[in-house]
This record gives sequence, structure tokens and C-alpha cells, in this order.
Amino acid sequence: MPTRDWITNCPSPVYVLEETKLRANLKLVKRVQAEAGCIIILALKGFAMWSAFPLVKEYLSGCTASSLYELKLSHEKFGGESHIYSAAFRKDEFDDVCELAGHIVFNSVSQWQQFGMRARSAGVSCGLRVNPGISEVTTDLYNPCYSGSRLGVSPKHLMDMDFNGIEGLHAHALCENLADSSIALIDAFEKKFAAWIPELKWVNFGGGHLMTHKDYDVDKLIGRIKAFRERWGVKVYLEPGGAIAWRTGPLIASVLDIVPTDGLPVAILDISATAHMPDVLEMPYRPTITGAGEASEKTHTYRLGGTSCLAGDVIGDYSFEKELMPGSRLVFEDMIHYTMVKTTMFNGVRHPDIAILRESGELDVVRSFTYEDFKNRLS
Ligand SMILES: Cc1ncc(COP(=O)(O)O)c(C=O)c1O
Repeated sequence: MPTRDWITNCPSPVYVLEETKLRANLKLVKRVQAEAGCIIILALKGFAMWSAFPLVKEYLSGCTASSLYELKLSHEKFGGESHIYSAAFRKDEFDDVCELAGHIVFNSVSQWQQFGMRARSAGVSCGLRVNPGISEVTTDLYNPCYSGSRLGVSPKHLMDMDFNGIEGLHAHALCENLADSSIALIDAFEKKFAAWIPELKWVNFGGGHLMTHKDYDVDKLIGRIKAFRERWGVKVYLEPGGAIAWRTGPLIASVLDIVPTDGLPVAILDISATAHMPDVLEMPYRPTITGAGEASEKTHTYRLGGTSCLAGDVIGDYSFEKELMPGSRLVFEDMIHYTMVKTTMFNGVRHPDIAILRESGELDVVRSFTYEDFKNRLS
């Protein structure tokens, strides 16, 4: 890994997107598009850092949104193909949605019946989200196919509907999965929805295909998509979020204080797990810190805590060669996807700056947050 001298002088806390890493991911995604003959669009829910869109646009042809606001962002900052899927659309927003979206995916037969005509007469290509009923994701919080899930129509509920006007089906069922799960999804979709595929112009296999992970068998995915396209003659979309920004940069934090407890000493950081890396608590998972080990593996072990008042605002137990002290810097790796999009200003804690480490090596701080940002979310 090249030296990261900039870490000593950058602001803290700060999310740093590393352009070279983003470009490497995008090159791989472009290869999948070229060789599989599919279209890959960016799911904004996972990565909406629009200052990086000029680079992303060199490789991807559009975005998918989960709400009117994401759709507006895609229109304003990205352009190109604009898709939207929402668990339910609002009546008072639907005209704006139709004006900006090229593709709308409805989550239920009733939403299609309520809004389909309006969308079609606005010239939008309409699709339905279906539920392929495969559980490749073990954490229910991230598994769209757990029993009783509200996400997508099952084959039995498609049976009795008038399909006229539906141009696409959308099947999102994965989260940070490897190629075998992508294959399982396409296999299940083909098996369960074969009766409807001949009517379609496009199929969207959603996100969660972690194709930029080193263990993801990209050629397997390419082969399966090609076979699907050749069999059915439809356009295939994928809409990853996480895979685009996977391992593209850290969150840099600093120690503010070390407090003794009746257990481990706790290093209190200038970030918060709940506000700045919520998946650490929600998933939950243990983030990687450069140079740190498991508890007791190295000489000095600490519990790392956030600045908020939440008792459970704890990142985990880590050990270090050198003693931590106020001012020590910690580098939390892979903090670009699903972080910035999910942060809060809970407790009014300082929101990390957002920076881009340019390919030239220059660190560009593209956004800093102030008291005004905190105040303006409230009234
Ligand atoms: C409908 C839909 N599409 C795409 C995605 C993006 O998934 P990922 O970021 O895991 O690739 C999600 C994630 O929840 C989703 O719900």
C-alpha cells in the first residue's frame, strides 16, 4: 500500500474517498457490462457522494433512486438513465417522479394499479418488483426475502393480475454476496417467473452483487448473465451500490480521551458508531482499523467508544503496539459505502468532513459541516 502521509495532517474526523480505488472498482464493473452485455447503474442508497460522480459517469450510464430526493440528485448531478423503486410512492410526489424517471419499479400490484396509467402516459417504462424467495442473506435486517417480507410480489400474487403495460421485472434479494448467490438469484428468478419473462423488455437483478470483492468470481456472473440474455432476449440491469464504493477509503478519527473503567480502558473518539458508522451496530460488524489487532493481540488493548451519550456507542475492543493518547489517529478502513448516506447528527456530534484523495495525491476536502447544518435539520 502506498504511504498515507496525508493522514497525519488531514482534518479529523474525515471520510476520505480514494479516487484510484474507486476507478479500479469502476473498471471492473465496466468489464462486467462489456462482457456480459448488461447495464450497471449506481444505487444511490449505498453511495451518493456526488462530488465523485464525474469519475463514476466515465463508467456507468445512470443511477437508481429509492425516493424522489435521490431521483432529483441523480437528475441534477449524474444524468443518463434514471430508475426509481420505492416500497410505496406518494400521490403528491408522483408527477415529479414521472417527470424525472425513465423507469419506475412498483413494489406491489396495488401500487401499479394506482399509478401505472399515470406513469405510462408520461412515457415511463414500468416494472414490478418480484420476490424470488431465496435467502442468501442471513441477517434478516438485510434480507429482502425473509418470510413475510414486504418487498416484492410473489409468483402467486402475480397470477391473477393484468400484466398488460408491465415492461420489466425487478428482483433484488442480495446484500454483499459473492457470485454463487448472484447465480442462485438468477436461477430462482428464471424458475419462478418463467411464465412472465417472454412479455418483458428488461429484467433488473438488483444490487448486493459484491463483484469488486477479491473472492467474487466475476467470470461466473458474466457467463450467467450472457446465458440469461441469450435465452430470453431481454435487456439485463444490475444496480449495485456497495460494490461500487467497496473499499474505496477510510474514516479517519482521533482519540479525545482515555477513561479508566472497571473493565478495559476506553478510548473516546471524535466519531460515533451510531452517528457515523451505523452498520457497526445494526449489522453488526467489526470494522478494520489499520495496524490494530484483536483484543490482547498487541501490547495495549482498548475499548473504542463514540462521543455520543448512547451507552452502546461502542465500536469494539482493539489492541495496538503503541499506547493510545489524546490526539492519536485511527484509520477505519472501508468507510465510504453506506456510511455518509446513513449518518445522523444525533447529540449534535460533529459530522466528519468529506474529502477526496485525488489520483494526483492531493487531498481535497469537499465538504465540512457546521453548527448551521445541525440547526437547519431542525426547527
Ligand atoms: C432495491 C435495491 N436495489 C439495489 C440495492 C443496492 O444494494 P447493494 O448496495 O448491496 O449493492 C438495494 C440495497 O438495499 C436495494 O434495496
